[in-house]
Parts: sequence; C-alpha cells; structure tokens
Amino acid sequence: MYHIPVMPSEISELLINKRDGIYVDCTFGGGGHSSYILSKFKDVKIIAFDCDEDAFEQFKSKESVFNKRVKFIRDNFKNIKKNLETLGIQKVDGILADIGVSSKQFDNLSRGFSFDSPNLDMRMDNRQAVTAKEIINTYSQEELADVFYKYGQERKSRTVAEAIIKRCKSGVINSACELKEIICSVKRAEGKINPATKTFQALRIVVNNELDNLRILLESAPEILNTSARIAIISFHSLEDTIVKQNFKENSNKSIYKILTKKIVTASLEEIKTNVRSRSAKLRVAEKI
Ligand SMILES: C[S@@+](CC[C@H](N)C(=O)[O-])C[C@H]1O[C@@H](n2cnc3c(N)ncnc32)[C@H](O)[C@@H]1O
Repeated sequence: MYHIPVMPSEISELLINKRDGIYVDCTFGGGGHSSYILSKFKDVKIIAFDCDEDAFEQFKSKESVFNKRVKFIRDNFKNIKKNLETLGIQKVDGILADIGVSSKQFDNLSRGFSFDSPNLDMRMDNRQAVTAKEIINTYSQEELADVFYKYGQERKSRTVAEAIIKRCKSGVINSACELKEIICSVKRAEGKINPATKTFQALRIVVNNELDNLRILLESAPEILNTSARIAIISFHSLEDTIVKQNFKENSNKSIYKILTKKIVTASLEEIKTNVRSRSAKLRVAEKI
C-alpha cells in the first residue's frame, strides 16, 4: 500500500462544489484522494502535483485507469500558478493539499525519513541539492539549535545541537539511525514519543522548505480559484495548521474567503482505529467568495 488517504469522504464532500469541475490535487502521493474523488464524481478532472519521483511512477501505473481525467505535473506545488498558466488554465474549481510525507516515503528506508534509515536524505524531490546529511554535517551549533527550536519546537534544541557538533568532530554523520542514537544519548523519551521525533520533524521541514511552500501555495490560491471554488488543506502539525488558519482568517476578513470549517475537521475514531496516521490530521476548508 503506497499510502492510505486520510478523511477521503470528508474531503470530497467539503471540496467538491462543482460536479464537473477541474480540481488540483497538490499532493498526489499514491493518488488515494484523487482516485476517491474521481470515483465519486464521474465528470471531475484533476491536475495533480507531486515533486516525488515515486509519486510520478505511481501515477504512471494508474494512468490507464484514470482514463485521461488526471494530468500529472512533477513539480513543487508552490509553482501551481505558473504550471496552470502553461496548461492554459486560468482558474480551477478547487484545490486540495494533504501536506507532509507519504507512508511510502516514510517506510522506504533509503529515503532517510525514519529513525532506522541507513541514509540521511529526507528530500521529497531527489532533483533538489540539499539533503539532511548536508545540513547536519555543515550547519554550526547555533544554526542547528535554531532549526530544531523553530521547526521542531524542540525544547532541548541546544543540547541536541551540541551533541551533534561534538559527534561531527570524530567523523561525518551518515545515517538517520546514527542521528537518532546521538539524540537519544542526550534526551529522554517523552511518554511513548521517540526523543528524536522533534529533531527529525525540524530537519524534514527545512530540507523540503515545507512551510514556505505552503505559504506560497496559500498566497497563490485566491487568484486561481473560481468564485464558489474551495480550498482544503490537511496538515499534521501545529506549525502548518497555524499558517493555514491565519491565511484563511486574513482572507475571510478581506471578504475573499468564507471559512467552511469553523470547527476544525479531524478523523473519526473509526478511521483512527484503521489508520493511526490520521490521528493528527487537521482539515480546514474555505470557499472563494
Ligand atoms: C501525505 S502525502 C499525500 C498522499 C495522497 N493524498 C494520497 O492519498 O496518496 C504528501 C505528498 O505530497 C508531496 N509533497 C509534499 N510537499 C510537496 C510540494 N511542496 N510540492 C509537491 N509535492 C509535495 C510528497 O512528495 C508526498 O508524496
């Protein structure tokens, strides 16, 4: 299984406001959300983005089933406006973004996202130059501490950065596994959560410039959405959710959006039982006025 899509029915119910519209799935991944939407709405078409090579392969494997209803663009969703213009599309009827890492990316040890990985890569897009290994082995102690604090909300950011720099003096840190051990040697577990979780989150965000990409997407969206078109964003941690919440609020104050999710939408207990990952998913939806 490439990835189990979170809250597929909630998303399609809240996102689709025009049954024969053109929608953008900014984060195709395994195509779970796109496939669900296409199966429910027979006249919908989708422009799908993903910067990951594996997602492109996944698209190709499903292309015949999609029957020309999906156009895949292997690019960063921050370039949504430029890509739509190239296709001759000025406006769309909805935008979906399911932010973060797919299960396939996380579970593939060679990608370096998980604690047991023999690599330290973490790039979603392998055409990009900077990897987690480069950051860990070249940033100063202060730079590392700032990254861990700012993007991982890691309270022990200085202690963790100090341990990494100390270890770097005796050789390059090559794997996520080594990095995890270094962190675990200076930090105790908080409940069931691995001591390295926050540092890994911070690194991933920086390697992939995740928060800036999200901001750019949100800034581009009002220009791309038709009247009554909707934007649905699923986020998995508070840094992302705060950006979405603020953007929707600002656009609502300017009478550009009507917020449809006054109360944030989360996965049902039933879904959480079958897909643990859905536990931290937060869905916000707004409609262009
Ligand atoms: C959580 S997964 C999406 C899973 C998908 N909704 C599904 O049902 O299979 C996130 C995907 O978004 C992609 N991604 C993340 N940030 C991106 C960006 N800025 N531009 C393009 N793709 C991005 C990742 O490569 C990953 O495949």
